[in-house]
Amino acid sequence: MKTGWFEKKVKEFSSIGGYKKPELHQDSLKLDSNENYVMSKQFQSDIILGAKKNSDVREYPLGGVERLIQMISKFTKIPTSMIGVGNGSDQILDLILSNFASKQTKVLTSNPTFGFFEERCKLYSIPMIALRFSNDMKLDIKEFTKQSKNADILYLDSPNNPTGFQFSKNDLQKLVKSFKGLVIIDEAYSDFSNYSLAKQVKTQSNLVVVQTVSKSFGLAGLRLGYFMASKQFTGAFNKVLQYPYPLSTLTIESGILALEKSQQMRDSVKVIKKERTRIIETLRKYNTFEVFDSEANFVLFDAHGSYQRIFIALSEQGISIRKLGKIGNHEGCLRVTIGTKEMNSRFLLAIRDLLR
Ligand SMILES: Cc1ncc(COP(=O)(O)O)c(C=O)c1O
Repeated sequence: MKTGWFEKKVKEFSSIGGYKKPELHQDSLKLDSNENYVMSKQFQSDIILGAKKNSDVREYPLGGVERLIQMISKFTKIPTSMIGVGNGSDQILDLILSNFASKQTKVLTSNPTFGFFEERCKLYSIPMIALRFSNDMKLDIKEFTKQSKNADILYLDSPNNPTGFQFSKNDLQKLVKSFKGLVIIDEAYSDFSNYSLAKQVKTQSNLVVVQTVSKSFGLAGLRLGYFMASKQFTGAFNKVLQYPYPLSTLTIESGILALEKSQQMRDSVKVIKKERTRIIETLRKYNTFEVFDSEANFVLFDAHGSYQRIFIALSEQGISIRKLGKIGNHEGCLRVTIGTKEMNSRFLLAIRDLLR
């Protein structure tokens, strides 16, 4: 056996860097991770308490995932045989990439795309064709259609993180229909937008639509994602690729209870969409900023030369947003999550004071 191969491999992995999580600031106003604080603390205490009652963690969760899938089916109106679950949509994306992609399969996506997905492609040495956003943070459907002939996998987060952009339904449907390889549409934020492509999995066997309870349900800590796809793909994924017990009993039971109360999620989405308009309109009043449209629960803006100063000044006041820096020709991009009315007002007041 060759000596040193293990150490070499560890060194190789260490040099990749990995997905950068936001910093943890105790007691800060958390507007950096696209979480949902409009969903009340009461909502989560209710489901966690209910889940506790329904759980016996001495046992493996036999049959639990199946019950959860029945609830997801009721919620999404997609048959149970076309649904799978994962430890966050992160894990679903990872399992798809690690099993279906290789150094020989080209992934067509946008630049920027979801950071975790990009890091996973780097880890597995999967080549990417990443198409840039225009100056007004939009993607060109013609360019995607043209490049789709050179790619084996199409991955789009719809809406996109971090820009908030989403193709029109008609454009995306056409692109997805014409693509011959594997299509992954990541709909982590679709509840905040005007459409989902989930139904299309009923007629298109190469399409996987991934969703999560992390964003619209405000349950990022539960680590529960799910996908919808053809019966054949779903069967292979659930029986072979996924772990035998991918979710904890508490996640399964909490997920079932959360989906039973989905009206609360819909109410919170209404508030967030209204607040999104308020944040966009208010930020647009400042010449310092260029503010982009968003179909998600966050807003991206270019603060140009002031972005470092604004980011630091906000964090000194305990307000945490995401610093992205250069995106395309935009040098000073910042992304702010839409929080509760009170959180958003604090953020906007702090901006007003800084730019006075
Ligand atoms: C586009 C996109 N997909 C997936 C995820 C991850 O979701 P989950 O919490 O279900 O792993 C995120 C989280 O930020 C995201 O932005």
